[in-house]
Amino acid sequence: MNILHLSDLHFGPRHWDGDDDVLIEKINSYPADVVIDTGDTTTDGRECEYVEARKFFDKINCERFVAVIGNHDKRNTVGHELFKEYIYNSQVFYPSAHQRTEKQDLFMDRKITKLKENFTDVNFLELLTIDRKKILFICIDNNLVRSNHGFVEESILCTIEEKMSEMVYDLPLLLTHYPLLGTDMDLFMNSRRLIDFVNSKKIEHVFCGHDHFLRLENTCDLYINHRFDHFMCGTTASANRPRDDNIFLFYENVGDNNFHLYVIRFSYKDGCLEFKEEKIR
Ligand SMILES: [Fe+2]
Repeated sequence: MNILHLSDLHFGPRHWDGDDDVLIEKINSYPADVVIDTGDTTTDGRECEYVEARKFFDKINCERFVAVIGNHDKRNTVGHELFKEYIYNSQVFYPSAHQRTEKQDLFMDRKITKLKENFTDVNFLELLTIDRKKILFICIDNNLVRSNHGFVEESILCTIEEKMSEMVYDLPLLLTHYPLLGTDMDLFMNSRRLIDFVNSKKIEHVFCGHDHFLRLENTCDLYINHRFDHFMCGTTASANRPRDDNIFLFYENVGDNNFHLYVIRFSYKDGCLEFKEEKIR
């Protein structure tokens, strides 16, 4: 199974100056079984930004697509509704009525906001059959509404753990926006809880974004002896700030012994896009 990983497109004010059609042509040249997007698809979570993002995704020639929400997509009180309308609509998990919740603004006051959906988290499981393997995409919302810090809701994780114990799958993959490791810029306040989740569910591949630069790590918990890859993609079209790495990633044969990873860097120079591909392993 091959995965193409996009992240941090930032449709809206921070979207880059490059030609999206040329980028899409490049993306479409990779034989991806599934394209994943690890959030910050928009800059301010506005409807016009989501519309542009949808047009972009519609041009990608891959039949399977899975996306998670990012903190910028939740910059306002309707971002979560628009995400489900334009980017990805799946069966979202809710805490059950008796569960106490801790996450700030997990529920908005419907009387004030007039929202159709006052529950702001977007967590779901997607089971896809690819190459006769059942691949479970575990999609966790670790963003807070109108905040630069990350947080994962305990009651939702418990619900997901219960659901997973009833499911049959070959390969679990975690998709989330905030990185689990090295969140020194914007704090993912309870990252340890999600790391524990990864270890307990024996998840070996974690895909994330947010920081706009590339970091590819493999980490091992020596006590419980579980190892996982942590793939933090750069941005796939930000406003060309000096720190930003314009990157997408291509993973070949995920979950197999002949796994390969390619980093595709691209920059916009003198009116044209330049791509550079590196094979990492
Ligand atoms: Fe972000």
